[in-house]
Amino acid sequence: FHIPVPKNEPILSYVSGSPEKTTLKRALTDARSQQIEIPMYIGGEKVYTDQRIPLSPPHDHQHILGYFHEGDAGHVEQAIQAALNAKPQWEQMSWEHRAAIFLKAADLIAGPYRARMNAATMLGQSKNVFQAEIDSACEIIDFLRFNVAYMGEIYQQQPISSQGVWNRVEYRPLEGFVFALTPFNFTAIAGNLPASAALMGNTVVWKPAYTQVYSAQVLMEVFQEAGVPDGVINLIYVDGPVAGDIIFKHPDFAGIHFTGSTKVFQNIWKTIGENIHLYKSYPRIVGETGGKDFVIAHASANPKAVAVGLLRGAFEYQGQKCSAASRAYIPHTLWEEVKNYMIEDLKTFRMGGVEDFRNFINAVIDERAFDKIASYIDRAKEDPAVTVVAGGGYDKSKGYFVEPTVLETKNPQSLTMCEEIFGPVLTVYVYNADNFEQTLELVDQTSPYALTGAVFAQDRYAIELASAKLKHSAGNFYINDKPTGAVVGQQPFGGGRASGTNDKAGSLLNLLRWVSTRTIKETF
Ligand code: NAD
Ligand code: ALA
Repeated sequence: FHIPVPKNEPILSYVSGSPEKTTLKRALTDARSQQIEIPMYIGGEKVYTDQRIPLSPPHDHQHILGYFHEGDAGHVEQAIQAALNAKPQWEQMSWEHRAAIFLKAADLIAGPYRARMNAATMLGQSKNVFQAEIDSACEIIDFLRFNVAYMGEIYQQQPISSQGVWNRVEYRPLEGFVFALTPFNFTAIAGNLPASAALMGNTVVWKPAYTQVYSAQVLMEVFQEAGVPDGVINLIYVDGPVAGDIIFKHPDFAGIHFTGSTKVFQNIWKTIGENIHLYKSYPRIVGETGGKDFVIAHASANPKAVAVGLLRGAFEYQGQKCSAASRAYIPHTLWEEVKNYMIEDLKTFRMGGVEDFRNFINAVIDERAFDKIASYIDRAKEDPAVTVVAGGGYDKSKGYFVEPTVLETKNPQSLTMCEEIFGPVLTVYVYNADNFEQTLELVDQTSPYALTGAVFAQDRYAIELASAKLKHSAGNFYINDKPTGAVVGQQPFGGGRASGTNDKAGSLLNLLRWVSTRTIKETF
């Protein structure tokens, strides 16, 4: 086995005068001036329909970037058939050739497609330049390259043999097709879910969120140019329940690679359970879902580090990261200092469109998300236990803008401490510094989720205690750092409890879900 050793893709700076900034600015201008028509891709063919749905930047919702072509139940059937037709040849292709295709895709994104990928993510999902660069450039490149290395490690794992007996394990792709159902908030996740299953020899029907179609289209162009054969990844824009209704009743449905909300995943799991008698094999169910991610500070923590961790953890990408800090537990001895630092720093946060690179806060994804976040803020304002420490405003006249909002509550069970809001809202509960251990129990019991969490402390006993008490409260646990920003190859990502099946995207564990092994014993 010889596999290129992966390294994390460097983050470009986009400082004034840099070549990457010039290229990206041009890509943004081009994208804003085009009226792109976005087809589905079924069996390698571009499919246009009469159902044209407009796409607009969330920060400028009157501007139309283009239209995507929505499909119906017939297109779902065609996509499944295309995936099944492509399967025999694709699964016979040797692993080196499959790997080479996805390594080429990574290189295309690192080079000629980088600006278009970032421009599409910035305009379509309202990410500022840094948030786009770490997602639609670095993270997807890392997923593609590291997955190839993990695949090599998997194939090398073989049982022992003896004289006269040769034992081996064959890592077969699943029998049937895989359904990749992807969320709006990370272009990298949307690309990785179909790509990782395909790398292992599966063929895929991919349905992205309608709010991520703009960057999904660029990804699909990359996959095609890299040489992903026709029918291996089929990209459809079909209403989720319409697609689900056909896919989850299909006898060749072999697995779902999902990232999205807990409720949708739980309903999918139930549907699969109800239809279990229809399938040839037990389907693989892999899902990364919601979070209510915590930060707890101990009295020994550095207050400035806590404040910075909270600001970055809660407000980057408008709090729309599954990993975003949304509830914090701060000892009374530190709160004044942490609060004042946050209030002062928030005054420097600029809010606006992504085209102005100085804007840190951009818009939330769509009107539905905006209304939901605004309603949480309104209810918090009416709650006598809650005080608005910063922000609290919102405006959807031009784009879906919500101010970064810090709430302080006297009730650790208040609504915004317990439910996933998925917006720039952080709620802080100030606890008596003597009650660190009881507060850890509160952290563990307040929410059903267990995705990410962070402890800030200098006292090693406090860190050890938090790590032990919160053993099952987070799949990604951070010590003296914000709970966001996991890097492929460094911090495998995923959560337990209501946050998912914890199959760790960008790791060997995840890729193992996309194979079904056959053990072979041969005697001589
Ligand atoms: P979502 O659940 O609304 O949508 C995810 C996908 O499911 C989309 O493609 C959507 O169209 C589809 N879908 C929605 N309802 C459906 C239905 N009834 N039947 C079939 N398909 C359906 O999620 P979202 O708003 O795109 O993403 C945000 C959510 O994703 C948050 O809850 C966030 O925490 C979670 N998330 C989790 C992780 C993680 O790694 N744990 C990462 C990113 C996002
Ligand atoms: N990789 C993303 C993060 O950790 C999900 O924030």
